[in-house]
Amino acid sequence: MSIDLPAAPAFGAPIELHPTPEVLRFLATRRSTSAVTLTGPAPTEDEIEALIALAARVPDHGKLSPWRFVILDARAKAAFAQRLEDLANARGDARAVAKLAKLKTPPLGIAVISSPRAHEIPEWEQQLSAGAVCTTLLYAAQALGYGANWITDWYAYDSEAKAILGASAGEQVAGFIFLGTAKEPPLERERPDPKALTTRWVG
Ligand SMILES: Cc1cc2nc3c(=O)[nH]c(=O)nc-3n(C[C@H](O)[C@H](O)[C@H](O)COP(=O)(O)O)c2cc1C
Repeated sequence: MSIDLPAAPAFGAPIELHPTPEVLRFLATRRSTSAVTLTGPAPTEDEIEALIALAARVPDHGKLSPWRFVILDARAKAAFAQRLEDLANARGDARAVAKLAKLKTPPLGIAVISSPRAHEIPEWEQQLSAGAVCTTLLYAAQALGYGANWITDWYAYDSEAKAILGASAGEQVAGFIFLGTAKEPPLERERPDPKALTTRWVG
């Protein structure tokens, strides 16, 4: 799919607010696609650039950009998976090896690294912004017609795995967003009842 995006607004340009029913319809049926059902084609280089540019527009208290992206194209992802498999095998951890299927199968991954700055803005808020980046990547990928899945398996938390990825000690992996073309449409999952999660503060 070709990308037809408006240019990023110039600094200080007024942003028109208007209803976008298509976005509402999209959100009403948005769905992750299981990583192990993702195949090629993957987003193109232009599309990856657009996905990252869209994701980088998330709310960000203090304008700190407390996150960064690591693109894992098919070749890099295979090499990363091999390093993780070697690590898991050295530990005799067959379960960890099996978990790598979600990393190995999709044709593309984008790791979102939460990279909090030393700043008066609480670290929690900076991490929330990284979560928003992950969500926006999912939305934008699906809007481009791709399937995407937010995954944090053991290799998002393991210190040796994080070092292989290139995350520093103060950083955390907010998520691996795996992307590709859905081999089969995802099926709707159970959803919570929003009413059961909502109260009104009455003082
Ligand atoms: C922070 C985070 C980490 C997740 N990690 C995993 C994971 O490691 N493995 C997995 O199967 N699903 C994981 N999920 C769940 C899926 O990404 C997805 O949200 C879930 O399948 C529900 O689908 P939906 O996005 O269509 O609601 C994670 C979700 C979040 C928010």
